[in-house]
Amino acid sequence: MMILGIETSCDETSLALIKDGARLARHALFSQNNLHRTFKGVVPEIASRSHLEKINELVEEITLGIKKIDGIAVTIGPGLVGSLLIGKMTAEALGWGWDVPVVGINHLEAHLYSPLLERKELKPPFMGAIVSGGHTHLVLVEDFGKYKVLGRTRDDSAGEAYDKVAKLLGLDYPGGPIIDRLAKKGNPAAIAFPRAHLYGSWDFSFSGLKTAVLYFLQNLSKRSGSGVSKIESSHLSSQLVADICASFQSAVVEVLVRKIVLAAKKFGLKKIVVGGGVSANSFLRKELIKKGKENKIRVYFPSVPYSTDNGAMVALTGYYKFKKGFYNAKNLDLEVDPSLPIRNWS
Ligand code: KG4
Ligand code: ZN
Repeated sequence: MMILGIETSCDETSLALIKDGARLARHALFSQNNLHRTFKGVVPEIASRSHLEKINELVEEITLGIKKIDGIAVTIGPGLVGSLLIGKMTAEALGWGWDVPVVGINHLEAHLYSPLLERKELKPPFMGAIVSGGHTHLVLVEDFGKYKVLGRTRDDSAGEAYDKVAKLLGLDYPGGPIIDRLAKKGNPAAIAFPRAHLYGSWDFSFSGLKTAVLYFLQNLSKRSGSGVSKIESSHLSSQLVADICASFQSAVVEVLVRKIVLAAKKFGLKKIVVGGGVSANSFLRKELIKKGKENKIRVYFPSVPYSTDNGAMVALTGYYKFKKGFYNAKNLDLEVDPSLPIRNWS
């Protein structure tokens, strides 16, 4: 079974072909990072226009010489509505033209299954964590399409916190990979930033941490008497920037690791599966694998290129939906939903 996956929910236009749920036959991705960099965040209008400009080219590239495609999987939410619509309309047009079924995919579920791309033997049940630019969710995955959402962020997502702190420091966009790199030279214990453990709840909160970094920088500015209202990394020593990055990152990772491992233990699960852009983070990977080992729990991450948005994870999720019959053969009228929740398949 050859499935085409289409992902356009945010700022990556990506298509992929997955054969028999196991083999990534082709993958094409256009990242809009350079278009949004000057704005230090995603500009929705620019994102949808860029998807529109690129998508046909990627369809041609990915389908060139391919004889048969059995189904199309397309992200229908959550995400930016204009961006989602480009993917949906492309998928429906192709589905109609090729006379193949089209299935709508929840972007968060696709992130959850992304570590399975390279490990066919990995199956639910597992404790799932989605740590992306838009979301932070803790999900008990009982089976494919059968979930219990235990907790989510009450304010900023983990990735948003990385991007906003990077912006405060005057660093580039997206901030996550930059902070990850700079933190390697810093001391994680240099600054005692707060940890929002929210004991007794599976929810997360990262906005207080971001504000703590802001206040730290404002205090530095006051103390320096420089009259500079905004302290950016260019005004600070490279060691101090590294220390801020390491201390901030250690606060994020400590909360994520404690909660994810605790949830796995509480629900008696021996597997933890993490997806989403922040799952590319080297410190999170190291700490979660270490804590997992201490508790005899195996931790699975996607390889770094499949941590961030990609069409392969959408195609793979589509494969499971097709295989298990969760699709409508005549469905050429999908609804996109910018705030699509995680729901059980029906
Ligand atoms: O999953 P994703 O591509 O998009 C959403 O679905 O939101 O995640 C993008 C997020 C951005 O916030 C980016 O800064 C973060 O993932 N990110 C990282 C790393 N690589 C990407 N955060 C921390 N460390 C990284 N290495
Ligand atoms: Zn994503």
